[in-house]
Amino acid sequence: MKKIGIIGAMELEIEELKNSMIITKTETYAKMTFYEGTMGDVPVVLVRSGIGKVNAAICAQILADIYKVTHLINTGVAGSLNSKLDIGDILVSTEVTYHDVDVTIFGYAPGEVPQLGVKTFPADEKMSELAVTICNEVNPDIKCFKGLVVSGDQFISGKEKKEAILSLFNADCAEMEGASIGHTSFLNNIPFVIIRAISDKADDSASVDYPTFEKAAAAHSAKLTLKLVSSL
Ligand code: ADE
Repeated sequence: MKKIGIIGAMELEIEELKNSMIITKTETYAKMTFYEGTMGDVPVVLVRSGIGKVNAAICAQILADIYKVTHLINTGVAGSLNSKLDIGDILVSTEVTYHDVDVTIFGYAPGEVPQLGVKTFPADEKMSELAVTICNEVNPDIKCFKGLVVSGDQFISGKEKKEAILSLFNADCAEMEGASIGHTSFLNNIPFVIIRAISDKADDSASVDYPTFEKAAAAHSAKLTLKLVSSL
């Protein structure tokens, strides 16, 4: 029996989804509120993790241990690292990694967590394919790409930092949770996908663009997530 865990870091990333659910149980663990119920006829658990890698990993582990979710979806916004991705467009993960992990001195790849045997955390191929197909149906006015999501405990808002990330990673967007959700999913053998709508370009304009566009961008990602849940 499928049960889909859906994580958004912020309230505005989950509020539309919450309104689309029939909630049968609400519980709190680790100061996070978990809404259990159905979307259409699909069992789901929706939660706001809070911002950053540790919050997101704890949240994903609770979804694995307590709710026994069979799939994980992370919906939200991100800064674009790819000039083809404009504000409002969507990036669906093929893989995720940390832009702020560096054990390269011992021969590991940039972002690689030692001793796991993988350089990045691969998203579930079927979920990614399906998400892109659905995105073109539900959000026909925007572009949707598949690619590499990089995460770190930093809001990227300057040319220098953006270029430093791009010098190490062929990445499409930067955010603050996806890699730790991918990491937790990898450790627990749970198929996952990260869906991120672009709220800013992670450059010198990001601090102005982000508050202007986050709500509309989050809505694009939520709309896709809703349809993906019913199609899995
Ligand atoms: N989420 C949205 N925009 C972001 C950025 N520029 N850096 C990190 N996380 C983000």
